Order: sequence, then C-alpha cells, then structure tokens
Amino acid sequence: MKLLANTSQIITVNTNGKNLKRGNDLANIGVLAEHAIVVENDAIKDLIPNSSIKNPSKYDIIDLQDKIILPGLVECHTHAAFAGSRAIEFKMKLQGKSYEDIARSGGGILSTVSAVRNSSLNELVKFLIPRVKYFISQGITTLEIKSGYGLDLENEIKLLEAINKLKSIFTINIIPTFLGAHTYPLEFKENHQGYINLITKIMLPEIAEKKLAKFCDAFCEWTAFSAEEVDTIFTKAEELGFHLRLHTEQFNNIGGLELALTHETISVDHLEVMTDRQIFKLAASDIVAVLLPGVSFFLNYDYAPARKLIDNNVIVAISTDYNPGSSHISNLNLIMSIAAIKMKMTIEEIISSVTINAANAILKNHEVGSIEIGKKADFAVFNAQDYSEIIYNVGKNLNAMTIKNGKIIYQANEL
Ligand code: NIG
Ligand code: FE
Repeated sequence: MKLLANTSQIITVNTNGKNLKRGNDLANIGVLAEHAIVVENDAIKDLIPNSSIKNPSKYDIIDLQDKIILPGLVECHTHAAFAGSRAIEFKMKLQGKSYEDIARSGGGILSTVSAVRNSSLNELVKFLIPRVKYFISQGITTLEIKSGYGLDLENEIKLLEAINKLKSIFTINIIPTFLGAHTYPLEFKENHQGYINLITKIMLPEIAEKKLAKFCDAFCEWTAFSAEEVDTIFTKAEELGFHLRLHTEQFNNIGGLELALTHETISVDHLEVMTDRQIFKLAASDIVAVLLPGVSFFLNYDYAPARKLIDNNVIVAISTDYNPGSSHISNLNLIMSIAAIKMKMTIEEIISSVTINAANAILKNHEVGSIEIGKKADFAVFNAQDYSEIIYNVGKNLNAMTIKNGKIIYQANEL
C-alpha cells in the first residue's frame, strides 16, 4: 500500500458519490488539511487524518513535502490531432479578418485538413506525442482528443488510429472522439447530402466496428452543419452505440442546442452566443456545458455566460479546445485564469470544472475527477500552499508531480 503523505491541502472535489457538480455545489471542493491518501494498487483506498497513522512503516510513502494534491486534471475537449500551422491565418486575424471569413474563403479547418491528408499515421503520432507530454506535465491524467481534420474515410480513420496509438505509449486515459462532421470537405462543398451519407453509411459503421471512438461530435454552425443535418448524423450514431457531443452556439444560434436536447447528448460545447432561454432549457437537463474561454480570448469575441449557467444550476466544465485555428492554447492553467478573470468564475468553480465536471463530459466521472474512495489513484500535485495560487499564477505551470493509477508518471525539475 502507498501513502501520499505530508500534503498542505488535499482538494478532494468530493461529490458524496454523485460524481458531478451543478450550481452552488461547484464551489464545494472539499479541502482537507492534515490528511493523507492511502492507495492500494491503482485506486484510492482511504483518506486518513495524519494523526491516525500509527504504523507508517507498513506503507510505501510518497512524501509530498507540503504541496497541494488535486484529482488528476481532466482535459475534456481538444483537437490536438492536427498537422501544419495556421500562423498565417493568425496574422490575418490580427489585421481584422474574422475566423468565419477565413473559413468561408477556404482556409480555417480546411487548411488543416490538407496538412493532415498529407501526413502519414506515424507522422501524426509524432506530432501528438509532445502535445500529450505537455498535457501530462500540467497534471492532466485524462485527455480527450477529436478527429475532424481528415473529413474522408481514410483520413478520419488515420487520425483516430493515431489517437488510439497513444494508449500504448502513455498510461493516462486517452478518449478518442469522432468529429467527421466538423465541416464539409471541398469535394462535397456542393453536395452536402453526399457527405452526410458518407458519414452515416460508411464512416460511422466502420469506426464503430473497429472501436476507434466512443463519442461522436459535430459542429452546428452556418459554416458547418445545420441542426437538421446533425440530427441525421446523431440518429445514426446513437443507433450504433456512440455517445453524443455537440459544438454549438459558437457564433450563431441555428437550433443546435435545441437539437442536442432531443437526443441523449452528453455535452454541448462552446455556447458563446447562447440566450437566457437556452440557459433555462439546459438547466433542466443533465447535459454538461463545456466552456472554452481560450476561443473567446484567441478570437477576441464574447465569452460564454458562465456565471448565468452556474447560477441557474447547469453542470459546467471548462477546457482548452486546443486546436490550430480558434484556440492555439494547450496551457490549461492559462485557460483556468482566463475563466476567472473574463468569465467571473470563482477559483473553486474552476477547479470543479477541470476535474469532476470535465470527467462528466466524457463519461469518466465514475472513475476519475475527484478524490473519493474507490476512484482511480490519479492526482496532480501542485507546488503551492493554497489552491488559489494555481490560478493566481497566470500561465505558469505549478504542477510538481503527475500520478496516474498510483504511479508517478511526471516530476518537475525544481527551480
Ligand atoms: O472547437 N468550432 C469548431 N471547431 C474548432 C476549431 C477548429 C479549427 O479552427 O481548426 C473549435 O473551435
Ligand atoms: Fe472544439
């Protein structure tokens, strides 16, 4: 048995077995002082007061030297599987071109699609490895990665295979998501029905058969898919056993959120332009609202209404949305600070949003996301005396150690 001892604080994000937090409860992060965590095999066995440790020699002790321990962080929405660079578009945006204008003129997602189609499976894995390592160095132990830059059978499968290959390289949880409905590829620009047929009749069945993804995601937007088109894709995906997520209400309200509510959707992501009425509808559901403040920062437009969502009892998570076009940010710490400063989320709410609620958005909340007995022994250890310092140190990685299934998988060099 292992004992994680001498912490300054254990941030349990305790849910009393509910495995999610909504509304006011996001603020309850269960801070424990003077406690240690008992780990047996790969799971949390107990949380015990330091004073009750009678026989320390029976444990294998990991000395946390007065640092803070949190549940391993969960990054629940990334497009890390990409090739190429969109720095030229970034320059255009700085000169005033909008993200949507660039997409309409054939750039945007489609320029990454060309770069991915020109890359081999091994090259994609090579691009992904340092990105995953960077996430791990931040204390992330569960990571979702979407496809969506292949947009044909061969290249969507290649991306999903690259993502799945990471499972044999890293011990963290890697969650692959199929995002074939990211936008229409050039060859189907004038034939939307043809691409929807390709997704529903060829791609989804083959991906299901090869078990390459558990989730099916789509982008509901003028420049991508209408609510009706998403409905067709979701109906087929559900039939094949996929769980659903949706990029929606990013720039325009075109019925995406309402459509998501008619299916058993697990999360709706973005929500920058959502209305008050939509907030109430979401509050009456169990769908997770995944907010991506890095996009609003990177593209310099409105933030999602985080305060209203939380105050109305919605299950809120946050994520980097790491991708080459709308949020070229893979630093979750920076995103957490932006959420505090720009979306007015409290530090406690942010911690719940990158742990248990992010785990909820990828259906891993029964396994990870909080320090509760029986859960996986996944932890992020931070070099701080109080948890506020994590978010107060904007853009700075205070993670000192990442622990997955009870094993140390990353240790920072002390400065
Ligand atoms: O989540 N909204 C659509 N998809 C991504 C951006 C993808 C890209 O620009 O490459 C997002 O913002
Ligand atoms: Fe996204």
